[in-house]
Amino acid sequence: MLRATVILSSLLAFAVAAHGEEIRTELYTVIDGTHVDERTLGGFKAWRAAACARCHGADQEGLVGPSLINSLKVLSKREFITTVTEGRLDKGMPSFKGDQQLIDRIDQLYAYLKGRSNGHITRAKVEGIN
Ligand code: HEC
Repeated sequence: MLRATVILSSLLAFAVAAHGEEIRTELYTVIDGTHVDERTLGGFKAWRAAACARCHGADQEGLVGPSLINSLKVLSKREFITTVTEGRLDKGMPSFKGDQQLIDRIDQLYAYLKGRSNGHITRAKVEGIN
């Protein structure tokens, strides 16, 4: 009986570990801080492809450009989209208007960065939920 209980509880522990903690908002779903839904994963790929990290830092914590972890707590989605689309050319933020791939995924990029800013996505590099 004791043995059966031990086996059962270790099976339960395994099931919990396999599932992990899930956070679901209207923008994204994150499991264990590092696994995200397909759309949010697309946002991370867009971040990579556009190389935003060269100015905003590999972990979005800021470099020559400001920390997007902080910025996304303050900027509205509309302000975010305007800034990325139009740039702030006089201040060193380029316009991404000509980058159709990025523009197509701007909602996903916003979701990804919002997840980082909210602390729900716990490291910059994410993987898909499978
Ligand atoms: C060549 C460097 C550079 C690159 C590349 C770059 N940025 Fe920026 N970005 C900046 C600078 C500098 C600023 C600050 C502009 C200012 O002072 O208003 C900025 C500002 C911003 C802001 C506004 C922050 C705020 O608090 O108002 C957002 C959002 C942003 N960048 C997102 C991005 C994203 C997303 C990418 C990639 C698609 C990107 N940036 C690529 C340099 C860069």
